[in-house]
Amino acid sequence: MKFEGRDIISIRDFSREEIDYILKIAQAMEPLAQKGSDMLKGKILATLFFEPSTRTRLSFEAAMHKLGGSTIGFAEAEIASVRKGENLADTVRTVENYADVIAIRHPLEGAARLAAEFAKVPIINGGSGAEEHPTQALLDLYTILKEKGTIDGLKIALVGDLRYGRTVHSLAYALSNYNVELYLVSPESLKMRREVLEEIRGKIPVTEETDITKVIPQLDVLYVTRIQKERFPDPAEYIKVKGSYKIDLELLGKAKKEMIILHPLPRVDEIAPEVDGTSHARYFQQVWNGIVTRMALLALILGEVK
Ligand code: NCD
Repeated sequence: MKFEGRDIISIRDFSREEIDYILKIAQAMEPLAQKGSDMLKGKILATLFFEPSTRTRLSFEAAMHKLGGSTIGFAEAEIASVRKGENLADTVRTVENYADVIAIRHPLEGAARLAAEFAKVPIINGGSGAEEHPTQALLDLYTILKEKGTIDGLKIALVGDLRYGRTVHSLAYALSNYNVELYLVSPESLKMRREVLEEIRGKIPVTEETDITKVIPQLDVLYVTRIQKERFPDPAEYIKVKGSYKIDLELLGKAKKEMIILHPLPRVDEIAPEVDGTSHARYFQQVWNGIVTRMALLALILGEVK
């Protein structure tokens, strides 16, 4: 296994063995996230975010700082030279002179892969359109492992916008490496992308469902997502599916006591605030897990952890 110098573009580029190793290093990062370290002193991370973000960008930056490194970048492409018409390849070939690693989020599918073709430094995909979000999938897996002690043997549902949501694409690919049963719960028009479904169906049992009440009693993990309003070509289509699922106390009355709820956040109205105080809710712990997972990734690709 070699991580040094590697790009993180798609979760499909990683084997189960490699994913398990990343999760192990994430766990080893927990004490360093508490007390800090100078492991990446002198290293610079650039964050190029062409789309809105709170958690992904800030947790990459926090991860870098906790390991003693520093960060540069922009969170608003409107103020960068992109506004003057600079293309992605030129932006990347410029920024690689300033940084040892680049995290990029872009509205277009394939953008991170394109950036990696031009860059001499490693590129981390922080979200490429509706396609993938590999580092989110890793922190999701880390959260499941930490909370449940295992990933194998679990029954897991991905709920909400399985068509335009990129986190569920990466997570479905990632979970297909494990011995899990997957339920894909969405409105008809927001079903899982066919290419993802075809690939994972060959590896694990998958059930598609529109009615969440049918699957909730057997679940160990409920992974809820936001309907991705901004990715709908037609606003009328969004209105039809808006508010399709609402996780509330009444629905949770049908769930196992130990079932955990995850959400990549931001949430809109798909999880009622009354759920936050229940023993099911783990979405804010998940945010913390994003830091240690990203610390692990940075340390591995910068060659400080072998
Ligand atoms: C997600 C994203 O940007 O894909 N957020 C995140 O990174 N945690 C989910 C979303 O926007 O709904």
